Amino acid sequence: MPSQIPASVRQRPLEDAIERVLIDADALAGRIRELGAVISRTYQGQDLLLISVLKGSIVFMADLIRAISIPHEVDFMATSSYGTGTQSSGVVRILKDLNSSIEGRNVLIVEDIIDSGHTLNYLVRILQERGPASLRIVALLDKPERREVQTQVDWVGFSIPNDFVVGYGLDYNEIYRNLPYIGVLKADVYRGK
Ligand code: IMP
Ligand code: MG
Repeated sequence: MPSQIPASVRQRPLEDAIERVLIDADALAGRIRELGAVISRTYQGQDLLLISVLKGSIVFMADLIRAISIPHEVDFMATSSYGTGTQSSGVVRILKDLNSSIEGRNVLIVEDIIDSGHTLNYLVRILQERGPASLRIVALLDKPERREVQTQVDWVGFSIPNDFVVGYGLDYNEIYRNLPYIGVLKADVYRGK
């Protein structure tokens, strides 16, 4: 039988799982406008391909591309590092690869959050091998305290403390992506109480 959203989750208002709002919708919109402006200036007159790392970056990607004023293309890639839960395994798999070649192109990876750094490190390594003209990274969130491996990041939306966050595309067990803000998940949610 296909897995379903557990009844205990369905019957609870989404907001009940949130300890506090860390970054509200206005702050997100303002920062993404700034990132869009910087990216537009950086690549003015150049070829540009944005790669969204599914699924966590979809909401950020959707807003970011509308804050970018220059012509660009988008593509999507999916990796898994967590399975379910809140701890990184350090093991990264490609679940969905890009639709087209990135050889000779200016590539900008769009990530939701950099935590241990394993996912991004792995992505950068395999994409570099494909010979892009340039490869940069923009991440909405960064948890510097949690870094286990050195990671290249060119632009960060917000540096945040070491809390597990959801909303604005980020999930816990695939839920909470639709919250319009970044919120800290209550500990009892991931302890399963
Ligand atoms: P890393 O490989 O440990 O850097 O993990 C990066 C991925 O883990 C992100 O792209 C997210 O999908 C997920 N992740 C890390 N921290 C959080 C969090 O606080 N909330 C939701 N997802 C997270
Ligand atoms: Mg992700």
